[in-house]
Amino acid sequence: MMNVCYIFHSYSGITRRVAERLRAACGGDCIEIVPRQRYSVLSAYTLGCMRARNRECDPIDPEVIDVSGYDLIVIGTPVWAFRATPAINAAIAALKGAEGKNALVFATCGGKPGETIPLVREALEGKGARVIGEKVFMKGEVEDQKKIDDLARMVREAGEAAR
Ligand SMILES: Cc1cc2nc3c(=O)[nH]c(=O)nc-3n(C[C@H](O)[C@H](O)[C@H](O)COP(=O)(O)O)c2cc1C
Repeated sequence: MMNVCYIFHSYSGITRRVAERLRAACGGDCIEIVPRQRYSVLSAYTLGCMRARNRECDPIDPEVIDVSGYDLIVIGTPVWAFRATPAINAAIAALKGAEGKNALVFATCGGKPGETIPLVREALEGKGARVIGEKVFMKGEVEDQKKIDDLARMVREAGEAAR
């Protein structure tokens, strides 16, 4: 049985919904990343977007994310200012034991993901993980069962390859 963890940040619940549906379909553990300092809508669009653009890390809970017991890491981020959120930057920096692990990346956005996926890929590779697949959900597509099924299939295939 493959052991998979879904590490995600979600400001308004959309990315969480994808992670939870994946877990329902494939099993595993969800690790929700929460910034210590909660953003208001105003501060998300000003400070949050600036920090996302600069690829900064927010202080987060949990502080350390030990993935050494997992076969597959799935990272989910909302897109902020065409990049990953500062909470997800911090989560990747906080990974322990990611060396040699397979990873999948997904992002949810309003329609303009920008550089989110390549930058998350680069950060994960910096931690020694191997990104083997990715998916972007545009506005409304999280309700598209086929897109969720596609990503769930990628999770299962990665698990079979890990055996
Ligand atoms: C501060 C902020 C910045 C955003 N920037 C972008 C963007 O650059 N491109 C885009 O397509 N969507 C952008 N969005 C929309 C979100 O990426 C989208 O609604 C996402 O699915 C939200 O996920 P969540 O509910 O898990 O937080 C932004 C939303 C917020 C709150």
